[in-house]
Amino acid sequence: MSNVATLTINGQTIELPIIEGVEGDRGIDIRQLRQKTGFITYDPGYGNTGSCKSAITYMDGEKGILRYRGIPIEALADQSSFVETAYLVINGELPTREQLNRTSVQLNDHSLVHEDMQIFYQNFPRASHPMGILSAMVNALRSFYPELITSDSDFEEVYVRLISKIRTMAAISYKISRGHKVEYPRADYTYCANFLNMMFNTPVKPYILRKELVRALNVFWILHADHEQNCSTAVVRSVGSARTNIYASLSAGISALWGELHGGANQAVIQMLSDIHEKGIKVKDVIKRAKSKTDPFRLMGFGHRVYKTYDPRAKIMKHNCHEVLDRLNYQDPLLDIALELEQIATSDPYFLDHYLYPNVDFYSGIMLRAMGIPTSMFTVMFAIGRLPGWIAQWRENTLDPEQRLTRPRQVYTGLTERPYIPIDERGNGPD
Ligand code: SDX
Repeated sequence: MSNVATLTINGQTIELPIIEGVEGDRGIDIRQLRQKTGFITYDPGYGNTGSCKSAITYMDGEKGILRYRGIPIEALADQSSFVETAYLVINGELPTREQLNRTSVQLNDHSLVHEDMQIFYQNFPRASHPMGILSAMVNALRSFYPELITSDSDFEEVYVRLISKIRTMAAISYKISRGHKVEYPRADYTYCANFLNMMFNTPVKPYILRKELVRALNVFWILHADHEQNCSTAVVRSVGSARTNIYASLSAGISALWGELHGGANQAVIQMLSDIHEKGIKVKDVIKRAKSKTDPFRLMGFGHRVYKTYDPRAKIMKHNCHEVLDRLNYQDPLLDIALELEQIATSDPYFLDHYLYPNVDFYSGIMLRAMGIPTSMFTVMFAIGRLPGWIAQWRENTLDPEQRLTRPRQVYTGLTERPYIPIDERGNGPD
C-alpha cells in the first residue's frame, strides 16, 4: 500500500503523505496542499476531515465498534464503574485498586460547590434550561479556581474537581428549579448513588437507594464517556487550541452538546414519542414524515455521522432500559412506541439505504424518565457522562506538539471589490 497520495491539478502533480492509524484508518496529510497548489479542501461539517491524531477512543462506524483506550464498550458497561471508566479515559489505563480508592477519596473531597455559587442558581429564572445553567456555572468555576495547569498533579486536581462538582452542580440546579432544599453530597455514598440522593432525597421523604438504579446510572454514564471527535468534543478542542482555560473550553462543549442534532436529541426523542402518544399520531405517519424530502422533520434518536450500523451503545442502552423498567415495574407507553418505530424503520428501505439506525439517544430518555429524571435534565445527564472524554481530549490536544490554533479556511462567495458610497449618495432604497 502506497504511503503517498498523488494529486494532479492544472497539469501540476504533487505527492501528499498518507498517515495510518493503528487500526488501519488512513488519512491524507494535506498540511502542504495550499502552499504547493494554492488550493484548500472543502468539507462542510468535516465529515471527511481528520482534525487530530488521538489515542483515546476508537470507533469503527461500519462494524459498530467502540473502544475506550482499546477496551470494548461492552466489557466496560458489563464490568466497570463510571469512576473507573473516567479514570481509564483520562489516564489511559485502568486504575489499580489503590489508585481507584485514592480517586474516590478525591472525588468526595471535591464534591461540595462553593456556597457563593448557590446564589447564582437562585437568580436564574426558575424555567431556565439546565444546560444553559450548567454551561454558565462550569465557566464560573474559573473564577473560583483561577490556578493554571502547570503540571500533571495540577491537571489531576482540576479533572477530579470537575468530575465531582458537575454532578453536584446538576443536582443543585434541579433542586433550586423546584424550590426545594439543596441536598449535600455524602461521604458514604459512591459517585452515582450520591447523584441520585442529591437529586431525590427530601427532608420529608428520604430517598431509598436501589442498587439496580445505581448500576443503571453507572452504565448510562460509561456509555457516554467519550466518542472521539463528535461536535462538542471538537468544540472543546477548538476552544482549548486558543490556550483558553479548561473551564471555558468545557462550557463551550456543554453549549454544543445542547443542540438537538447532538446531545439534545435525547430530550427531543422523548418530546417526539410523547407527541405521538398524546396526539394519537400513527407511527407510519411519523415514518412517512421522516422520509419526506420536503419535511424538515427528522426521526430523533436515529442516524449517526459515523455509525452506519446499529450504535453499539444503543444496544446496551436498550437492554438497560428494559431492565430498569422491569425492576421498577414501570409501564411506559413511550417504550412501546419506540420499539414499534425501530421495528418499522429498520426494515424500511429508506432507513436501510441511508444507514439510519437507533443511536445512543433513542432509548436513553425512556430509562431516565423511569428513574425520575426530568426531561429537561436529559442532556445534562449526557454532559456529566461526556465530561471525562472532553477533559481527556482537551488535555491530549493541549499536549500534542502537532496541534495549532483551530482556524479553518473558506471559499468566498460574496461580492467582489466595490467602492464605499457616502450615505448622502446612497439614495433611499427599501425602508
Ligand atoms: C449524538 O458524533 C457523535 O459521535 C455524536 C454522538 C456522541 O456520542 O457524541 O454519538 C451523540 O449526537 C448522536 C446523534 C443524535 N442526533 C439525533 O438523533 C438527531 C437525528 N439524527 C440526524 O439529524 C442525523 O442523523 C445526524 C445529525 C445525527 C447525522 O447527520 P449527518 O451525518 O449530518 O447526515 P445528514 O444530515 O447529511 O443526512 C444524510 C441523509 C439525508 O438524506 P438525503 O438528503 O441524503 O436523502 O440521511 C437523512 C437526511 O435527510 N437522515 C435522516 C435522519 N438522519 C439523517 N432522515 C430522517 N431521520 C433522521 N434521523
